[in-house]
Amino acid sequence: MQNESKKSWGRGVIDRYRTYLPVSEATPIVSLGEGSTPLVFAPRLSERIDCRVLIKCEGLNPTGSFKDRGMTVAVSKAVECGAQALICASTGNTSASAAAYAARAGIPCAVVLPAGKIASGKLVQAIAHGARIVSINGNFDDALQIVRELAKNGEFAIVNSINPNRIAGQKTAAFETIDELGDAPNIHILPLGNAGNLTAYAAGYSEYKKLGKSGGLPRMIGIQAEHAAPIFHRRVIEKPETIASAIRIGNPASWEAAQRAIDDSGGTVEIVTDREILEAQSWLAQTEGIFVEPASAAPIAGLFRFAREKRRDLIPKDATVVCTCTGHGLKDPEIVSAKFSETAPVAPNIEAVREAITRS
Ligand code: F0G
Repeated sequence: MQNESKKSWGRGVIDRYRTYLPVSEATPIVSLGEGSTPLVFAPRLSERIDCRVLIKCEGLNPTGSFKDRGMTVAVSKAVECGAQALICASTGNTSASAAAYAARAGIPCAVVLPAGKIASGKLVQAIAHGARIVSINGNFDDALQIVRELAKNGEFAIVNSINPNRIAGQKTAAFETIDELGDAPNIHILPLGNAGNLTAYAAGYSEYKKLGKSGGLPRMIGIQAEHAAPIFHRRVIEKPETIASAIRIGNPASWEAAQRAIDDSGGTVEIVTDREILEAQSWLAQTEGIFVEPASAAPIAGLFRFAREKRRDLIPKDATVVCTCTGHGLKDPEIVSAKFSETAPVAPNIEAVREAITRS
């Protein structure tokens, strides 16, 4: 049985990019076959923006978000170091991923969450994987503070993105993008919450450039929600609010590193409203067939805003633009189902069903 896990089926990011990651032969690999997600050309979005736009569909990772890339490395290293339990604060996706990888590793996991602010799909995942769930009357920033303290005496291994192994794993998404395109894109846009993912992509792009695997570095652009935009406003937001609960963060842990990466690349941070986010989510689902959670629609909303404001300085015509859509739409079903009121059932016959389909 032990040999089975050494075979190459279900290859994850450690298997694929081992030489770039902080693992050795001694590291027990905890993987669910994450990574290698599709980079999908978006023809209608490209037409609308007058650029070549591709979507990195990170919602197709094993637990439905990009967190799995970093989690496989963080949990493998935690197990190697003899951790007895994992802990994280989360707006939902990190907890879902940590819970799954902890289950895979056979160790317990505690998740500390802002009460009432976790999308149902994510909470269900943490429950299903058997995590110990603690809700607090506070926001993500409060939860992260508590978790940092709890992890100090070594009782728990912290698997938030302040753990460098998380960032190391997440940079593989930049490697994949270059491996697939043959070079770095001109622009990379992604949602900005705790700012770990943008930091990780920038690190990945730099690493590949140093190795001569790409000609240049992309301009890194982060998108925040209007009322949860500390990096945009350059100040801590005490009570962040947005419908995109994944990025409802007022004091990002990787703030400085992300700001540096944005500045060094000639990038920027932009804000979008909740309404723009929901419109972009719906547009992407109905026009390109890609269903993402609200936070993941923020980069699309950002692109629409740049197009409206004719920001050709940022997004030149015909540029290659990659948008990371970080989490699957099924993570937050209520956002969409709230728009749908079920019609009364009709008689079980062809005429009644045809009449119901064609009814305006
Ligand atoms: N998109 C989604 C779907 C997320 O879950 C997150 C972060 C982000 C974007 C932002 O990424 O924090 O690296 O800037 N979610 C974390 C969590 C905070 O707890 O699941 P970031």
